[in-house]
Amino acid sequence: MKKIAIFAGDGIGPEIVAAARQVLDAVDQAARLGLHCSEGLVGGAALDASDDPLPAASLQLALEADAVILGAVGGPRWDAYPPAKRPEQGLLRLRKGLDLYANLRPAQIFPQLLDASPLRPELVRDVDILVVRELTGDIYFGQPRGLEVVDGKRRGFNTMVYDEDEIRRIAHVAFRAAKGRRKQLCSVDKANVLESTRLWREVVTEVAQDYPDVQLSHMYVDNAAMQLIRAPAQFDVLLTGNIFGDILSDEASQLTGSIGMLPSASLGEGRAMYEPIHGSAPDIAGQDKANPLATILSVAMMLRHSLDAEPWAQRVEAAVQRVLDQGLRTADIAAPGAPVIGTKAMGAAVVDALNFKD
Ligand code: NAI
Ligand code: MG
Repeated sequence: MKKIAIFAGDGIGPEIVAAARQVLDAVDQAARLGLHCSEGLVGGAALDASDDPLPAASLQLALEADAVILGAVGGPRWDAYPPAKRPEQGLLRLRKGLDLYANLRPAQIFPQLLDASPLRPELVRDVDILVVRELTGDIYFGQPRGLEVVDGKRRGFNTMVYDEDEIRRIAHVAFRAAKGRRKQLCSVDKANVLESTRLWREVVTEVAQDYPDVQLSHMYVDNAAMQLIRAPAQFDVLLTGNIFGDILSDEASQLTGSIGMLPSASLGEGRAMYEPIHGSAPDIAGQDKANPLATILSVAMMLRHSLDAEPWAQRVEAAVQRVLDQGLRTADIAAPGAPVIGTKAMGAAVVDALNFKD
């Protein structure tokens, strides 16, 4: 039996998670995965109930689970709360508590939505990128750090640091992912200038020996930022440290032009969390307008990475392609003036498209 902890969160969270849950339940029944799903509170919903954005019971639920599904947290209602009592703190503490060190962010073009991309169709037609970003090290956590006054002048400083074990474990995640895809791994660094990333390049090159069938290349981060716009289809898996990945994964997501379509996974040792990349969209919350496909595709990633159910992951992804082929669109991905359907109808359409009856 596998345990799944579900945190719907705030805003559109409950709506998109309910749609994704229907898909997960349908797969669970058809594949006989024997899942045990429990729901918990995080973010603003938890603040309202208990004055804590991540109550101990929620963290416990997540720690005991094989995988966590999260909708989104936050909204204007909690914007005036003090920093430690903001909904996002719940999410940050959850990620930290689960020690999730690998962030997987696919940026895939859906051919049916080619027009949504800000780039010309011929540039993005074949885009299918997976950004693998290290999450627990780098300049965000390095010591020393701080603000000080030296000789009457204010100074701020941070330290970029990685040790070889941290690099090795994220490199293995990226190589394994590349093995299951088009077998090309591009590692991003700034080895010409920064020692910590020179070590990054060295260690990634060593790890490559374990994966002879994966083709490894290296690219400086500034060039990678340019190539993502100039010729994004050249990339399969992009491996990055924490700060470069923060920036490049957001850049890559914009290639698709459809924020409501993109899933993510954050992996640790025997633990994982799956969530759409978008936020709680308070502007459309509670109106049955949200696109549930990013969350449904996050469920597909969970089937792949946590439940050892690759064929079922592919089935969910194919079902999403099928509803798009059928012309079904939520408002965010519809052409101006074209007919739209709601969150519930989109979720039900994906369940139908799974086609478990034959
Ligand atoms: P957002 O991603 O929530 O919304 C940006 C725009 O995209 C909005 O116009 C929204 O309606 C639209 N959108 C987002 N997801 C959509 C979906 N599934 N279907 C249709 N349209 C969708 O980002 P924003 O507005 O900056 O943040 C809103 C709240 O969400 C804030 O409180 C923010 O802190 C929080 N947030 C939470 C995140 C998380 O839980 N991981 C990530 C980003 C923001
Ligand atoms: Mg970011």
